[in-house]
Amino acid sequence: MTVVVRRGSAQDVRFLRDMLHHAYYWKERAPDAGPGPVQLYVKAWGRPGDAAVIALEEGFPVGAAWFRLFRESAQGYGFVDESTPELAIAVVPNARGKGVGGKLLEALLERAREEGFAAVSLSVDKRNSGAIALYRQHGFEQVGETDDSLTLRATLAGDR
Ligand SMILES: CC(C)(COP(=O)(O)OP(=O)(O)OC[C@H]1O[C@@H](n2cnc3c(N)ncnc32)[C@H](O)[C@@H]1OP(=O)(O)O)[C@@H](O)C(=O)NCCC(=O)NCCS
Repeated sequence: MTVVVRRGSAQDVRFLRDMLHHAYYWKERAPDAGPGPVQLYVKAWGRPGDAAVIALEEGFPVGAAWFRLFRESAQGYGFVDESTPELAIAVVPNARGKGVGGKLLEALLERAREEGFAAVSLSVDKRNSGAIALYRQHGFEQVGETDDSLTLRATLAGDR
């Protein structure tokens, strides 16, 4: 399988929205938990601090990873501070377990480094052991916890 990772753009918003449902299905099942994932992680895509990478297999999108900066007053689920973007990642079900997620995560962390961020964070369902294993492999450590989720953060080499 040949997988290529390219930068995402405003044209990829529909795909990001589709992939977000995979990443935050557990939040969608709890509609009283504040703003929904699409509102938080995709709406008005393209604002400063937004970045995405898309994985293509034979030219077709099979996964995405992206990050976004949040304000103290309007936080994402894995908020740490206003200079730490939060990431989301998902691979389509039939392309999982073949290294696509790892490639996406590496590409996105590289992008965050290039843009001068010192760290990135995320929120993950405590039961999502596959994703947690992937994040730990890439240097993420737990910095917070709620009933159903963990907040993880990775410090990036080459800090500004
Ligand atoms: C999490 C996700 C993005 C991983 O993508 P993937 O392409 O399957 O991941 P990879 O094949 O690159 O796996 C990389 C590593 O992740 C870990 N991993 C991934 N899925 C796993 C699983 N189901 N069980 C255990 N470990 C898993 C392994 O450590 C693996 O390393 P290895 O291949 O050396 O064992 C994908 O499973 C997914 O889209 N899940 C649904 C969305 C989601 O949960 N997103 C995260 C929300 S916070």
